Amino acid sequence: MLVTIFGTGYVGLVQAAVLAEAGHDVLCVDVDPAKIERLRAGEVPIYEPGLEQLVRQNSAAGRLFFTTDPREGVGFAGVQFIAVGTPPDEDGSADLRYVLAVADTIAEYMEESKIVVVKSTVPVGTSDKVRAQMEHRLAARARGDLTFDVASNPEFLKEGSAVADCTRPDRIIIGTASEETEAALRELYAPFNRNHEKIIVMDVRSAELTKYAANCMLATKISFMNEMANLADRLGADIEKVRHGIGSDPRIGYHFIYPGIGYGGSCFPKDVQALIRTADEIGFDAAVLRAVETRNAAQKNYLVEKILGHFAGDIAGRTFALWGLAFKPNTDDMREAPARVIMEALWAAGARVRAFDPKAMDECWRIYGEREDLMLCANQDAALDGADALIVATEWNSFRAPDFKEMRAALSEKVIFDGRNIYDPLTVAKYGLRLYGVGRDAK
Ligand SMILES: NC(=O)c1ccc[n+]([C@@H]2O[C@H](COP(=O)([O-])OP(=O)(O)OC[C@H]3O[C@@H](n4cnc5c(N)ncnc54)[C@H](O)[C@@H]3O)[C@@H](O)[C@H]2O)c1
Repeated sequence: MLVTIFGTGYVGLVQAAVLAEAGHDVLCVDVDPAKIERLRAGEVPIYEPGLEQLVRQNSAAGRLFFTTDPREGVGFAGVQFIAVGTPPDEDGSADLRYVLAVADTIAEYMEESKIVVVKSTVPVGTSDKVRAQMEHRLAARARGDLTFDVASNPEFLKEGSAVADCTRPDRIIIGTASEETEAALRELYAPFNRNHEKIIVMDVRSAELTKYAANCMLATKISFMNEMANLADRLGADIEKVRHGIGSDPRIGYHFIYPGIGYGGSCFPKDVQALIRTADEIGFDAAVLRAVETRNAAQKNYLVEKILGHFAGDIAGRTFALWGLAFKPNTDDMREAPARVIMEALWAAGARVRAFDPKAMDECWRIYGEREDLMLCANQDAALDGADALIVATEWNSFRAPDFKEMRAALSEKVIFDGRNIYDPLTVAKYGLRLYGVGRDAK
């Protein structure tokens, strides 16, 4: 099938590459000319395992194309995906200007019937706004005769495993009342629906809410465990033992109940906020979600409080090695990353940071640039040189089994602040290092 995708970010580009790999012909449209130029040269501007190879392979095979020309994009295919960003507006609600701009563009250039598929994460009711925007533009063109349908098809990929998630999705949600649209999307997704039925068809509003409900449920699990970790620290319990204890109940399960220093990234924070705003708008108090947000904001400072406690409130002039900058492993994305909150708090207190991340060094440089109190180090060992203490902010695999002997020799204060509980307290103690974790410091 022929498909056009507006937006070549984490979602649009991965979706395009995976659809092309399955044999579809995909044209990607973006407003960022530099990005499109790089993509045409086979260069992928984001880090996502397997993506660059897929983009090169399918571009070479003549199934994946890139353009900045919206007219070309609209003319290319009957199915038009909207996968542009929906960042938080000033009040926390989802900013729909990019989504509606694409809707306007499609209506501006369409000459035949279209299926418009909203893949961006958008509040309930957005498909109606997309429809209204398109009707408005078609009326202005005196082309009210042109027909279109607006469907919802939210994306559930995870950064860091986006290609794998898109290639083998857990579920494919299709929100539409139109049989024709359902048939077209079933055909599009047939290559991904072979093992067992993954397509779930529902009405548009339910599809839109499904995406928010999924992210908010996951954010709630994290914040709940972080709250338990706070209690464990104060009550003399070990949260890791508690985690095993509750995970063994199949009604709870082991997935996604790791305590830590809070969730970040481009999705959970903004989606929790946006659903709270949606609830506000209809006069409903989303009390659970507000609590999730409050807990998460506090959790990002959890290690900072432990660091200040250890150093009796004075860290001016001290140097901290920081392992991990990305908001989670296998990505270079630092949006809303706990590492940023930690670094900024350390700088405000007069400390210096020697940082290393396997993938996010360029991104860190882009965000903070040259600073006297930030040294971006070539590798994780170099970050330890001349540092007082180590902070672990992201659970990259390469951080899990370090040489503790060398670490002890390098750190002047012999202390680790482990924001992801990747180290075993007994092992670390054997090497004469003091370990602070999340929810197990009393043991
Ligand atoms: N990143 C994730 O893990 C993830 C997962 C699931 C859903 N989502 C949702 O998917 C949507 C996209 O997220 P993302 O992370 O890919 O965003 P992103 O910011 O990485 O990419 C968005 C892209 O859209 C382009 N764009 C903006 N306006 C445009 C226009 N008028 N025409 C064409 N291109 C335009 C931008 O230049 C950019 O390249 C968001 O709603 C997000 O919430 C993201």
